[in-house]
Amino acid sequence: MELERMLRSQGFGSRAECRALVCAGRVSINGRVCTDASLAFEPEGLRFVVDGVEWCYCRFAYLALHKPAGYECSRHPGHHPSVYSLLPWQLVARGVQAVGRLDQDTTGLLLFTDDGPFIHHCTSPRKQVPKVYEVTTRESVDDAQVDALLNGVVLHGEAQSLSAAACSRLDDRRLRLTVTLGKYHLVKRMVAAAGNSVEGLHRVAIGGLLLPASLSPGQWVWLGSGELRCLTDRG
Ligand code: URA
Repeated sequence: MELERMLRSQGFGSRAECRALVCAGRVSINGRVCTDASLAFEPEGLRFVVDGVEWCYCRFAYLALHKPAGYECSRHPGHHPSVYSLLPWQLVARGVQAVGRLDQDTTGLLLFTDDGPFIHHCTSPRKQVPKVYEVTTRESVDDAQVDALLNGVVLHGEAQSLSAAACSRLDDRRLRLTVTLGKYHLVKRMVAAAGNSVEGLHRVAIGGLLLPASLSPGQWVWLGSGELRCLTDRG
């Protein structure tokens, strides 16, 4: 693939912008500055450096972000900064999207990709990919509330009951709750329907993929094939 086309596919701008980047001597490959934008490379696994930052070509980008509180999952947020402002602009430019949404006050694991079928796999109700949350409640959690969440609660304004795929008490005011749907405010509404309310919500896992302990709020990492398998195998 020609260098300028490769850079374009990775979000570095229009073909003309990518060509200008190369001609200005800002791109190196294998430790050498490359000023010929029409030079062809095998893209798979290609490592390249732009303005001192190393990148690896990827046909699709897969990332995990530790979402901090106070960020909206929209590209055009209303009241808080966007989670997209936490990612390099090249990834936003190539069109990565959040895989589902978290409320602005929810923290934890949020995935991004530009692979449409992957987003569908993770978010489709039919695939039942589990999402695991640690929930801090306002009142003490009792057995009746855990039982209600496991056996089914009727959400305000809905007819059918919904149940958690798993629910256990972590301590007096904390639950670990697993759901397989992706409805608006789902966990908050389920906990409210069980007779308590949510004070803090943190997503710790999606499918078999845990939020990496080394990732601080606001940080993100690339996901490799092993991590992606954790997501797709269990769905
Ligand atoms: N359920 C909620 O209520 N909020 C979230 O952010 C995610 C799940």
